[in-house]
Amino acid sequence: MILGELTVRDLRCIEQAELSLHPGRNLVWGGNGSGKTSLLEGIFLLGRGRSFRTRNSERLVRHGQERLVVFGRTEGAGIQGSGWVHAVGVEVHRREGTRARLDGSPVGSLADLSRVFPVQVIDPEIHKLIEEGGRRRRRWLDWAVFHVEPRFADWWVRYGRAMRQRNAVLRTRSGATKPWDVELTALGERISEARRAVLEQMQPHWHEVAAALDCPAAELQYFRGWGAQHSLAEALESSRPRDEARGVTHAGPHRADVPIRVDGKLAREVLSRGQQKLMAVALTLAQLRLLKEVSETTPTLLLDDPAAELDSEHLGYFVEQIARLGCQLVITSLQPETSAFGAPDRVFHVEQGRVGPV
Ligand SMILES: Nc1ncnc2c1ncn2[C@@H]1O[C@H](COP(=O)(O)OP(=O)(O)OP(=O)(O)O)[C@@H](O)[C@H]1O
Ligand SMILES: [Mg+2]
Repeated sequence: MILGELTVRDLRCIEQAELSLHPGRNLVWGGNGSGKTSLLEGIFLLGRGRSFRTRNSERLVRHGQERLVVFGRTEGAGIQGSGWVHAVGVEVHRREGTRARLDGSPVGSLADLSRVFPVQVIDPEIHKLIEEGGRRRRRWLDWAVFHVEPRFADWWVRYGRAMRQRNAVLRTRSGATKPWDVELTALGERISEARRAVLEQMQPHWHEVAAALDCPAAELQYFRGWGAQHSLAEALESSRPRDEARGVTHAGPHRADVPIRVDGKLAREVLSRGQQKLMAVALTLAQLRLLKEVSETTPTLLLDDPAAELDSEHLGYFVEQIARLGCQLVITSLQPETSAFGAPDRVFHVEQGRVGPV
């Protein structure tokens, strides 16, 4: 899948930018604070409806402005058939939030964006996938599950709704959670099974990529969010007193994690920052390989300052693995070339928020 034309307006320091991306390697270069990462955030926003740097989208709106707009044309083959073209637009309004349009019509859910423009990022914060709690890893896994299992997004939305309703009932302490328990159980088991299946399919890719990147050998485990000995219905039943006391649901796939262990110890406790980055990169590449294999999806891959924290040997392995994916790439750099990635197909220079072709 490819992003062609791209227009960005009032996103951080970028007042207005129009560019035409190449299906292959695009290099975006400029000094510190020129707007390189901001441009990648704009691209990511088109496919995900959010930034990879902040959970608070209104921070992306340029100071003194009410809203930002990103617009792009995507094209590709894959599951949608060949030769399709879509117009995608995302607007973030300071007070009214995020709205998206696909081919001129408002989209019901952000999942629709992900379908027409799958995009992934590797940035200097990627080690947080290893270092932080389960939320990031859940999201990492879910993005892959979403592309493999078309019903997943719907299950997840309905699960979230049922959980909010159950939590509201818990706070009344009426004990009348039964209808929501039934709904949560049905959806939760499906969500969990879909995640487990995708993680299992990913394992061979994970082992291959981790070895190719010379990253420490680690096991990816799956913790589904409740005890292994019980069904979700049983877990909900037995945690009810605690749930009522706190007014929240403790058991379920919203608590899932993919704990990563090296020699039996949690990776975040034993790996250096550079090793954590390598491992997080390996996870991401394993996911992209899986998507290519099962759904013929080749997302656009954003590489923000990819050389940071990697020595030349590991950077070499990384570049080799990236090249094998055959994805559209948008790479940022402080220099006008990235020798490691070979000659770019198209180069853009960014200076004080202005982006131009070179
Ligand atoms: N909401 C905003 N409105 C205007 N400017 C902003 C906003 N948010 C951030 N900025 C500014 O945008 C500039 C560009 O930031 P960005 O992170 O894109 O730079 P960069 O080129 O990636 O730099 P680096 O090489 O240091 O990573 C920064 O100077 C920042 O202060
Ligand atoms: Mg940056």
